[in-house]
Amino acid sequence: MKQHLWINGEAIEAKEYTDLLSPYSRKKIAKIAKANENHVVEAIYAAKEAFESSMKTMPAYKRAEILENVVELLKIERESCAEIICQEASKPMQAALVEVDRTIMTYSFAAQEARRIYGESIPMDAAPGGEERVAYTVKEPLGVIGAITPFNFPMNLVAHKVGPAIAAGNTVVLKPASQTPLSAYKIAKIFHKAGLPAGALNVVTGSGNEVGTLLTRHKDISMLTFTGSPEVGKSIREKAGLKKVTLELGSNSAVIVDKGTSLNDIIPKMVKGAFAFQGQVCISIQRIFVHEDLKDEFIQQYVDKTSKLKLGDPMNLETDVSAMISPYDADRVLKWIEEAVHNGAKLVHGGEKQGSILYPTVLVDVALDQKISCEEVFAPVVHINSFQDWDEAIDKVNDSQYGLQAGVFTNNVQNAFKATKELHVGGVMVNEIPTFRVDHMPYGGVKMSGMGREGIKYAVEEMTELKLISFKL
Ligand code: SIN
Repeated sequence: MKQHLWINGEAIEAKEYTDLLSPYSRKKIAKIAKANENHVVEAIYAAKEAFESSMKTMPAYKRAEILENVVELLKIERESCAEIICQEASKPMQAALVEVDRTIMTYSFAAQEARRIYGESIPMDAAPGGEERVAYTVKEPLGVIGAITPFNFPMNLVAHKVGPAIAAGNTVVLKPASQTPLSAYKIAKIFHKAGLPAGALNVVTGSGNEVGTLLTRHKDISMLTFTGSPEVGKSIREKAGLKKVTLELGSNSAVIVDKGTSLNDIIPKMVKGAFAFQGQVCISIQRIFVHEDLKDEFIQQYVDKTSKLKLGDPMNLETDVSAMISPYDADRVLKWIEEAVHNGAKLVHGGEKQGSILYPTVLVDVALDQKISCEEVFAPVVHINSFQDWDEAIDKVNDSQYGLQAGVFTNNVQNAFKATKELHVGGVMVNEIPTFRVDHMPYGGVKMSGMGREGIKYAVEEMTELKLISFKL
């Protein structure tokens, strides 16, 4: 199958195509168009023209209706969408279906938000000289948004950018991850069928560096919204000049388990939170800090549950863990594991690979300066360390360059409130794993985890400009 570019509501042939391989079988699944500079500029102009001629003035109820149509079409195409995700990302089918369901939810929230974008009235007479005025704010769309999306949620993280952009009346040029372009092209065609004007959503694939840089620097792009690695995020920030930028970057998410926590209740979700989609989720559990009284029992139950995970073909509904996104990543993580073991960590499960499937790996007593702890591992690897008192646990979680979400399990209300105050992250989940997200909540991080927030209502804030209107009476 040859996948062309999608520009101005049409499939556009490129001069060059690259093979897309399944991460699991390493067999070719499609040939993907490689955009050159002219294609990217054409996509930006199509988006600019669509903004000026239709989206800028399209009433809210119409934007909402288009998004509602997308929701209905996605419901009909649920299974075929999940198959695309499964094939291009090797996301196990169970998880791919959950992603499509979440995508449907994300676009439903976008449809709802489209109808409630409003400002506020401003009491100008609160300051001397402000008397005899009626003033209010409105939120206006920005124009063309450049969206750069990652491989790990190829439908739902596209939805988190395209949904709020369209809800607010913007247009989009989307550059999906090179490994997962098919989901993005599918969504573009669904939007077309749903009634979105030509040019309002364009998809360009090709070299991340070239296409990404063109989008970042182009004068007609008003905002960049990026999810991916901190290195790329930083370079976008540096090149973007005065454009608005939202960055959702990495994390080495942690969870604290206090004494008195019932392990039976939490072990299944703690295992899922570390190993779902091979741990390739920004909020996957990477670091577990468990009270020393519970340590031995926790490790035993955790390893027991982990050993029951089923590894294999992502298309099989029984599979829990499949191939890493690339052989390079599987090798990189094995090296990090070896280094940690060399430096004193105990390997209690996994630590090997079969093809590109990295076995779910559990390490104990890892020095916190090891890459497997302090860098974002983005793989099915977790470490379990113990702590003696709550302050020490909080310090250990905060001892990170990242700060996306953290989880704490405790029956002690003082400890819970202390954690909510002192953990330096974008979201604290009390009595929940950090790997928790529903699609309307604010989502984003501090430190190297990024800037700005997603979650439709919050992304709409980022994708609109506040304008003040003041009438002198
Ligand atoms: C991410 O990896 O940042 C997204 C996580 C999610 O949406 O569940």
